[in-house]
Amino acid sequence: MSSEHVDGREAPPLTETIAPGTATDPDVKSEDAATVSIDGVEVEVPEGSTVIEAIEAVETAGNVPALCYYDRDSSQAEKIGPRSECRTCMVETEEHGMVPSCSFPAEDGLSVSTDAEAATEARDVNLDLVLSDHNLRCTTCGKNGRCELQDASIDNDVEEPRYGVFDDREAYEPLDDSSDFIQIDRNKCILCNRCVEACNDVQVEGVLRMEGSGQDTRIGFQNGAETMEDSTCVSCGHCVTVCPTGSLVEQDIADAATIPLPGFSQKNSIGKSLESSGKETKGPMTRMKSDEPKDLTSEARTEENPGDWL
Ligand code: SF4
Ligand code: SF4
Ligand code: FES
Repeated sequence: MSSEHVDGREAPPLTETIAPGTATDPDVKSEDAATVSIDGVEVEVPEGSTVIEAIEAVETAGNVPALCYYDRDSSQAEKIGPRSECRTCMVETEEHGMVPSCSFPAEDGLSVSTDAEAATEARDVNLDLVLSDHNLRCTTCGKNGRCELQDASIDNDVEEPRYGVFDDREAYEPLDDSSDFIQIDRNKCILCNRCVEACNDVQVEGVLRMEGSGQDTRIGFQNGAETMEDSTCVSCGHCVTVCPTGSLVEQDIADAATIPLPGFSQKNSIGKSLESSGKETKGPMTRMKSDEPKDLTSEARTEENPGDWL
């Protein structure tokens, strides 16, 4: 998160300059099945649950976004986070005070309040902090209408983020439009690390990494490339499917959900973009691990299905 002053607005508070790593976070789940009280409603959750899973099991009074948390519905989600990076999921507990619900174990007997004033305020401040580092141009964004950050902002009645948005800083990174399959707009990245873990821990391709520190933290490539085209990306698209914002978008539908404003597009709204050099045509897209046939052994996969889409 940045702390630059924005004219006419309150400056965001300083945060630590700790760069998120790339490894999967350690398990922080409950060791046993547990009964937890959420806003006074008791719910039983299985072993291995976190507080957010208990919250999701009941109707809660407070709206609890969880922007860097990847939904556990998919079998591979176990390998993605929780990163505990954005703190938009804070709730109050009687036993431990304020905790991030995405990564706090659902301990037996825990009493959670989602609508305690301090918790609501913490979530609001943290959501505004995320937005302060974000290019909030939904109308020209490829994730318009299917964006978790947009949903959280709408659900929490954000009208004007108190710390402004990234636009105010005139410090855009160029849009990386060099790949045929995936477009990267780092000005929309919330550093949740989901893409890095999907790439490294689920796909095991080892293409992406977090690089830099503090305000300069960004997603980058393990081979040191500056563009997607020059990276070792195999175009499986798994990173795109887990990205909660318009930072990673499928090229084919990059403009599908944008509002047609003559002369405005995702690309020229940023102003600068990195284009393909045209020097090399990459092969067809590689399957995502989740799309691989389940009844094939890895041997059979190697012989009969080299892993290409087409
Ligand atoms: S990623 Fe795109 S759709 Fe989502 S909040 Fe940002 S600009 Fe809006
Ligand atoms: S590109 Fe998307 S998935 Fe990756 S860190 Fe940024 S917001 Fe998260
Ligand atoms: S969702 Fe819990 S810290 Fe981001």
